[in-house]
Amino acid sequence: MRTYLVTGGAGFIGSNYIHYMFKKYGDEIRIINVDALTYAGNPENLREVEKRPNYTFVKADICDREAIEKIFAENDIDRVVHFAAESHVDRSIVYPEVFVQTNVLGTAVMLNCAKKAWEQPDGTYLPGKRFLHVSTDEVYGSLEEDGGYFYETTPYAPHSPYSASKAGADMLVKSYMDTYHFPANITNCSNNYGPYQFPEKLIPLIINNALQGKKLPVYGDGKNVRDWLYVEDHAKAIDMVQEQGRLFETYNVGGHNEKQNIEIIKIIIETLQEMLPADDPRKALVSEDLITYVEDRKGHDRRYAIAPDKIKAEIGWYPETMFKEGIKKTIAWYFEHEDWMKNVTSGDYQKYYSEMYKI
Ligand code: NAD
Ligand code: TYD
Repeated sequence: MRTYLVTGGAGFIGSNYIHYMFKKYGDEIRIINVDALTYAGNPENLREVEKRPNYTFVKADICDREAIEKIFAENDIDRVVHFAAESHVDRSIVYPEVFVQTNVLGTAVMLNCAKKAWEQPDGTYLPGKRFLHVSTDEVYGSLEEDGGYFYETTPYAPHSPYSASKAGADMLVKSYMDTYHFPANITNCSNNYGPYQFPEKLIPLIINNALQGKKLPVYGDGKNVRDWLYVEDHAKAIDMVQEQGRLFETYNVGGHNEKQNIEIIKIIIETLQEMLPADDPRKALVSEDLITYVEDRKGHDRRYAIAPDKIKAEIGWYPETMFKEGIKKTIAWYFEHEDWMKNVTSGDYQKYYSEMYKI
């Protein structure tokens, strides 16, 4: 039985990954989820799996070396899947240091503890051990509106404190592979959407605001482009890279689904109108009149677009969920989880929202 140590599993992508893995492997695997439960980590995301005998939750900070060493000492970990990070660009612009702390230092701690647990006296590693570092396409910087794609060979050019800290973490992983021959992979993925995404990010924020008839904030001219991938496709890619990918390689993961932010917002409005029953009072609230242009994000990257050619050619992964279908599934999930949204938007979220959006 393989044992996975997942970091940040109570967040958006981590929790989707854990659900995906239990759906796929059932009792054949064991998962230990280590998460500090910051504002972005939510134990509710894992209610369905928390009673499984092959699932364990450990509340700890990845910067806490002793806590991480203890997990490695007490368990024979075969796979690390490292999601834990501060992940929101807007917050990184206000509080850059916490991004450096968690994303860079936390990754260093994870690498060092895994190396210590897996390295043999002759400098080789226990067979079958693998570390996967989950990263972002934002490390590659920004593309011109009409120009090109991000490949694994694209030079790093991060612009925000978030992407700079992720780039720093990626470089540390690369250095461990080059210096110590440490058995790792890196995946650089485009923007994800789907269930359990915290409503500080564009898609759940727009769904939540639209359903309440609140303004829909669009940064700048609304024409920035992101390449959206349904989160389950990302979870699948991570598993495929760990099982079939060549060690020491980086794989880009992307949706082949470039859209301007304003297009995304209009699709959400249209889909909400289609999906809400005629007698639902929210139907009258959802309208393009809510769209409100606000001040642009500082250093706002214009366009991201991934070329997932390598992962397709070597591993056979491709994005399976078309955006039209993925956005319907996402909206349906938010309809069915009104309490989840209420819980995460109470308290601190209100303060965040009013400081961030003066509308
Ligand atoms: P998220 O913010 O939803 O979740 C992050 C999780 O990490 C939370 O559960 C949080 O409690 C935990 N965490 C934060 N600091 C921690 C610490 N110091 N110690 C332990 N746990 C801590 O993020 P997400 O959107 O699920 O992203 C997960 C990973 O995927 C990140 O590394 C991110 O850079 C990467 N990524 C995200 C996207 C995206 O579109 N969301 C795209 C590509 C890559
Ligand atoms: P976001 O979901 O924060 O992801 P990222 O910045 O990592 O790509 O934002 C996606 C895009 O949407 C980005 O170009 C910024 C824009 N955006 C808005 O226009 N309004 C908003 O309220 C938010 C949160 C984002």
